[in-house]
Amino acid sequence: MSRSVPVGLGARAYDVLVGDGVLEQAGRLMAPFLKRGRTAVVSDETVWALHGARLTAALAAAGIEALPVIVPPGEQTKSFEGLAGLSDRLLALELDRGDLITAFGGGVVGDLAGFAAAIYKRGIDFVQIPTTLLAQVDSSVGGKTAIDTPRGKNLIGAFHQPRLVLADLSVLATLPVREIRAGYAEIIKYGLLGDRDFFEWLEHGGNREALFALDPAGPVPDALGHAVARSVEMKAEIVAEDEKEQGRRALLNLGHTFGHALEAETGYGDALLHGEAVGAGMALAFRFSAAQGFCPGQDAARAVAGIAASGLPTTLAEVAGHPFDATRLVAHMAQDKKAEAGRLTFILARALGDAFVARDVDADAVLAFLRAEGAR
Ligand code: NAD
Ligand code: GLY
Repeated sequence: MSRSVPVGLGARAYDVLVGDGVLEQAGRLMAPFLKRGRTAVVSDETVWALHGARLTAALAAAGIEALPVIVPPGEQTKSFEGLAGLSDRLLALELDRGDLITAFGGGVVGDLAGFAAAIYKRGIDFVQIPTTLLAQVDSSVGGKTAIDTPRGKNLIGAFHQPRLVLADLSVLATLPVREIRAGYAEIIKYGLLGDRDFFEWLEHGGNREALFALDPAGPVPDALGHAVARSVEMKAEIVAEDEKEQGRRALLNLGHTFGHALEAETGYGDALLHGEAVGAGMALAFRFSAAQGFCPGQDAARAVAGIAASGLPTTLAEVAGHPFDATRLVAHMAQDKKAEAGRLTFILARALGDAFVARDVDADAVLAFLRAEGAR
């Protein structure tokens, strides 16, 4: 069974299909977007080895040839060098504007292939087939595509919406638990920013635990389908209202101002995954909100407990690199894409499920808060 979540963007509207076995339907579902029976499938080595044959067979069943373009796994692939290599391989396949790129992997593949699609011959269509929990609930939906530069993450990119997103829950069973946890940070984020009931659903009844007990040989838990579909629904609703992040879409960055600063200090690598940084960042954002008098302390404590229960870090002391230099962290925050004219922007909370965009946050207050949290 699959659920279809529409992303209402007028002429650029598309559906996100969430379910067990969606991958087997890929050929039938993608055929309407193809002018000829082939698609370049951008994937990473790990994903392709695990799930490539399934996708190839599903496409072949609909008479579509998969042209694999396999890249190394890892954030370093989302670079100018990675983009140059990928673009050259797409050109060698002689794709034209009537062709379609398929991004088959996690957020790294989705962001890179999506950006390549945005600029290849001034833009061709692409489909997202996300294979990590993080990519299914966040990065594959909403059209943000980008690469990193030595100056920071996602600094060069474009808004380019996919034509279709196929989120097959069964592929998540091969993910390491650490990657599930990183994706869970983005799931709990939706509850914390705008849906208290969803946050409470994750807290109770073994729902969170079910997401961490995926069995490649067993059925996909119902809780996983609900968690992914509800997350996608919330993201779709926000993106439809504010595609280019002029206002409300910024709420999706809950935890990201603190989180990006920690990622910048830890080197955007294995020491701290993006989702882990978001987990710690959301806990800091809730405690900062309480310290500033915006949010009741008990809501902040419950938010932090909910994040910690999944094993995500919630304090600076749990992040490799501790003790951090507070001034350096604030300097990273000042370079954030959301910072405007030197003012710091944070997503803060008034309560569980009620986040807001706080522009013009006082850097000294942040410095003092970070020192109280254990930074130097
Ligand atoms: P990722 O793409 O690096 O995937 C994580 C690891 O899991 C990789 O080693 C990959 O090979 C492996 N993997 C993927 N699917 C697998 C599967 N089914 N089974 C086993 N292993 C699998 O990381 P990610 O967490 O998916 O994405 C992180 C990236 O997403 C970052 O670059 C971040 O900036 C970006 N991002 C983008 C957006 C957006 O809106 N565009 C939002 C959030 C994050
Ligand atoms: N991941 C944040 C956004 O898509 O806006």
